Amino acid sequence: MASIMLEGIVKRFGKTVALRGVNLEVRDGEAMVLLGPSGCGKTTTLRIVAGLERPDEGRVVFGGRDVTNLPPKDRNVAMVFQSYALWPHMRVFDNIAFPLKIRKVESSEVRRRVRWAAELLEIEHLLDRYPHQLSGGQQQRVAVARAIVTEPEVLLMDEPLSNLDAILRVKMRSEIKKLQRRLGVTMVYVTHDQVEAMVIGDRVAVMNYGEVQQVGSPQEIYNEPANTFVATFIGSPQMNIVKGVISGGLLSLLGTQIEGVEGVEGEVLVGFRPERIVIGDGDLKFPAIVDFVEDLGSDVIVHLSVEGAGELVIAKLRGAHASLKPGEKVLAGVMRSDIHIFDPKTGRALKHGV
Ligand SMILES: Nc1ncnc2c1ncn2[C@@H]1O[C@H](COP(=O)(O)OP(=O)(O)OP(=O)(O)O)[C@@H](O)[C@H]1O
Ligand SMILES: [Mg+2]
Repeated sequence: MASIMLEGIVKRFGKTVALRGVNLEVRDGEAMVLLGPSGCGKTTTLRIVAGLERPDEGRVVFGGRDVTNLPPKDRNVAMVFQSYALWPHMRVFDNIAFPLKIRKVESSEVRRRVRWAAELLEIEHLLDRYPHQLSGGQQQRVAVARAIVTEPEVLLMDEPLSNLDAILRVKMRSEIKKLQRRLGVTMVYVTHDQVEAMVIGDRVAVMNYGEVQQVGSPQEIYNEPANTFVATFIGSPQMNIVKGVISGGLLSLLGTQIEGVEGVEGEVLVGFRPERIVIGDGDLKFPAIVDFVEDLGSDVIVHLSVEGAGELVIAKLRGAHASLKPGEKVLAGVMRSDIHIFDPKTGRALKHGV
């Protein structure tokens, strides 16, 4: 198996700078997810790891070996694309066997490996069919089987589940994770779905504008986001961010104050997650008026207008609060440990918990 190091990767397409100096280490046997909005450079990063694209600057290193200038076939990498790219005129067996045949693997060994991959993906009964005779989910399994059949050191997946319906996506994401664990293969998985990223990734690299914003475990990026971009990109509904001022340890925000906030002075941005708001409790309390209630059954999303402060705050509360009505006055609260402080100029996190 192999670790992957990306060092200072810059990639330009004409005037577009797709990657602005990407540094990323993927550990041997780790599942790393690249997460970010459309156009942030996820696919480009993956294609550079695969060798399908050359970086303009920087190095790609597999397990200590510089592979920056090696063609894809010499990298022991397999890739699953968003559009499975199965050969329509070949049966499932031959689709899965294809990478082995071009490597001139002997036919009894081809049969053994195809059976092994098909069993893992539970598609043994489909080997004689053509791709058009398969459902989307089955085609997706065939594409994954074809990728693992060569037992690659590195498995790359670019939004492999995006063509599936919501229920199948949820099922497949945990299956991909289990398969990666079982094979112990180093995986880089691209998605713009944050829940998928959290489920699949041992660690997640959050990207924006051709840069890695933060790398961490799902817990780390949720609890200690490095900046306002990561803070608002992770979590749904997104983190509330309001203006505040800290003066001599006194943090003023939303028409209220909290003492003993050390280490930061001046204007700040204050973040707290909708799901961490409580009604009638908390270290920081602010009166608000219910503006709108979205009843999701298990939870309710409540839009709160904060009196005097002119700010709108979103709270995610237990379904028991579904009886809240627009116009109703509430006292909303947040615990000190759930308050994040960011630099208003750079967006960088200054403090997690006050
Ligand atoms: N072959 C290319 N020629 C020109 N520009 C390109 C090319 N490939 C990518 N780009 C540009 O580089 C940037 C990054 O693209 P990339 O495909 O890596 O984004 P992405 O994060 O995968 O987005 P998505 O989630 O939409 O797939 C975009 O601005 C894109 O338009
Ligand atoms: Mg892409």
